[in-house]
Amino acid sequence: GNADVGLIGLAVMGQNLALNVADHGYTIAVYNRNYQRTQEFMAHCERAEPSRVRIRPCAELAEFVQAIARPRRIILLVKAGAGTDAVIGQLLPLLDPGDLVVDGGNAHWLDTIRRERELDAAGIRFIGSGVSGGEIGARFGPSLMPGGSAESWRLLEPVWQAIAAKVDPATGKPLEGAAPGRPVTGGEPCTALIGPNGAGHYVKMVHNGIEYIDMQLISEGYWLLKHLGGLESGAIASIFRDWNEGELSSYLIEITSDILQQQDPSGDGFLVDKVLDAAGQKGTGQWTAASALEQGVPANAIAEAVFARALSALKEERVAASVILQGPEVRLEADTVHLVEAVRDALYCAKICAYAQGFQLMAQAQKTYGWQLDFATIARIWRGGCIIRARFLQKITDAYGRDAALSNLMLDPYFRDALHRGQGHWREIVALAVRNGLPVPAFGSALAYFDGYRSASLPANLLQAQRDYFGAHTYERTDRPRGRFFHLDWPAPDRPEAEAGG
Ligand code: 6PG
Repeated sequence: GNADVGLIGLAVMGQNLALNVADHGYTIAVYNRNYQRTQEFMAHCERAEPSRVRIRPCAELAEFVQAIARPRRIILLVKAGAGTDAVIGQLLPLLDPGDLVVDGGNAHWLDTIRRERELDAAGIRFIGSGVSGGEIGARFGPSLMPGGSAESWRLLEPVWQAIAAKVDPATGKPLEGAAPGRPVTGGEPCTALIGPNGAGHYVKMVHNGIEYIDMQLISEGYWLLKHLGGLESGAIASIFRDWNEGELSSYLIEITSDILQQQDPSGDGFLVDKVLDAAGQKGTGQWTAASALEQGVPANAIAEAVFARALSALKEERVAASVILQGPEVRLEADTVHLVEAVRDALYCAKICAYAQGFQLMAQAQKTYGWQLDFATIARIWRGGCIIRARFLQKITDAYGRDAALSNLMLDPYFRDALHRGQGHWREIVALAVRNGLPVPAFGSALAYFDGYRSASLPANLLQAQRDYFGAHTYERTDRPRGRFFHLDWPAPDRPEAEAGG
């Protein structure tokens, strides 16, 4: 065979990624379990895609494998989970040693670790790669987060660098303007080897956890402008458009402004007012929160964003409860200009905390799983292509460039100053929301994280005493070195000999 690359799975992401690969001059063999989908894809290409000449549709898996030059590079874009294992199982007997399989789905990182081990035993290379950016990203430049060995990466690197989103190296801004058959040339590609085995999929998962909290924060901001500012969607759209010119500038802010100004095509008014408020989720946010819980990392705002979706999904229960449980009357704020400024600052401060949590989580995971992650690089490849791409990511790149061992993003001078500047407004917004009975779980939990992290003392002294009281779990003392544990038979007379341990 002479195809440079193969791709299995022609759902929306697979089709777009295949076209992206072809646009960059690679010949690509494609295979889908249901051949009719392949034929429909080719019919679409016939109409609109100049690079179709480089796409080789294959009806059979064996024919597909034979069509690819060795060592083969085969990209999987199939449903994560059992589907991936099934495809790998069918593929394995057809492959030759040294071939590379790349899983571009949202796989669980432990599955990726397992698959790499299993394939390695059969002499087949494996990379688990995060692919972010939705359909448009896949088509014209995603952010790509591969995990695997250096040798595997050498095989994949030219293709991944070619198809990844590009940013202007000077400004960190994404380069745009790609069209079918005319990819963007030049610029810094949004991909780099993240680490071995599951590292790429782990980092992609954390990207999604951050995506969840970013979306939740924006949604809370919108809700406050609507209910405390009394503003309608079109007006809020313009506010977001303004914000997109400043430090909040990001893909999610930009699409929010588009969404808010969209009229309902099938009736009167704004479409967003007709969209049912019950959020869906496919699991990567839950995985992020669960991984934080498992490792004891305080990523509370990320977890809160997952819970906020879960609460929203109880639509019928909430509707029933809304006529039983009462809160305060919502009162409009008189000074809208001030409200808008305060919400913006609250959003920025909370966003800093959310990213701080995501990076703290990755910092712990690299210890847990034996990886060495480069946080400046991770921030750098998130500047373009992915869903959380933002001007802000350049600031994070700079922060880890200044100090690769930074223990928390909030401690970097740029972010510290931003928090100091914005926290007055942030507190005001949380207080205002609480007083009016409007739920702001993301704004609030991020603030609790900030206040907790900057507190030299916390009430865990009492908590430790309680644990020792009912369970003899022991405690350390502020006036003794760390690592020495004491126990008291509570309640005990106020005498030093009553305390045991040390
Ligand atoms: C991306 C996205 C994407 C993810 C969806 C689903 O980076 O392009 O993160 O990979 O699948 O956003 O998320 P839900 O859990 O909200 O469905």
